[in-house]
Amino acid sequence: MTEAPRPILAGKKALVVGVANDQSIAYGCAKAFHAVGAELAITWLNERARPHVEPLAKELEAPITAALDVSVPGELEAVFDRIRSQWGSLDILVHSIAFAPKEDLQGGLLNSSAEGFAKAMDISCHSFIRMARLAAPLMRDGGTMFAMSYYGANRVVPNYNLMGPVKAALEASCRYLAYELGRQDIRVHAISPGPLKTRAASGLKDFELLLNEAAAKAPLGELVDIMDVGYTCAYLATPFARRITGGTVYVDGGTNIVA
Ligand SMILES: NC(=O)c1ccc[n+]([C@@H]2O[C@H](COP(=O)([O-])OP(=O)(O)OC[C@H]3O[C@@H](n4cnc5c(N)ncnc54)[C@H](O)[C@@H]3O)[C@@H](O)[C@H]2O)c1
Repeated sequence: MTEAPRPILAGKKALVVGVANDQSIAYGCAKAFHAVGAELAITWLNERARPHVEPLAKELEAPITAALDVSVPGELEAVFDRIRSQWGSLDILVHSIAFAPKEDLQGGLLNSSAEGFAKAMDISCHSFIRMARLAAPLMRDGGTMFAMSYYGANRVVPNYNLMGPVKAALEASCRYLAYELGRQDIRVHAISPGPLKTRAASGLKDFELLLNEAAAKAPLGELVDIMDVGYTCAYLATPFARRITGGTVYVDGGTNIVA
């Protein structure tokens, strides 16, 4: 992008969950929203993550920052209490988090434990439903919600293992939430980025192979970066995209269309 983008989301308020560092997809989203004028609430996982995230939140002038581990009872509610008291409303929600215990992630779906599968599903999928439930009443003038998925939701991607069914559930949840919230003018999108070298991705076996293959297969000939994902979300949050909801939006240079 060469020119400075116009502040098309000026006055809009966005909660972005999932910034771990400056490689995070969530950081790309926060940076793009900021570039087009939105105000940000940014969370970090815990005190260990805070020193990596707090400077990024400062750089993006986020007026609301907080700790949020979605598996700790009460923390999500506390974030929304803050947003309610400080902002009184919300326009954009980004869920860009995923987790699976390493042994369950790397052992193949067949060997995944009930506990590991349930934990992956809770943090990577149901937490989005909980966020949507808390966010919707604050989206009084409508709003846009995003959850990050991956191609492995629809086709078998070697080594993606139990995250495949978890992301399939996430994409289906986006469809059902879009259906349930549509009359409130709230739109819900699953965003499906091509592979990106992030901390979460480093947990996948042979991830480098996936990157090389994606670059080779992409009709546009290149890997995507976090700003590509961020600006797609920024666009979808504008009124120009007001008739789009419930689908999975691929930001992958076209890789998903190639056999
Ligand atoms: N990197 C890729 O290739 C890729 C491709 C498609 C989709 N995605 C998805 O994008 C999203 C973001 O991942 P990323 O690649 O930016 O990696 P990342 O490691 O930067 O982000 C993952 C985030 O999940 C957060 N998280 C984990 N457990 C949590 C919990 N209990 N409570 C709150 N937050 C928690 C981490 O703190 C971290 O901020 C994930 O849903 C991932 O599956 C990633």
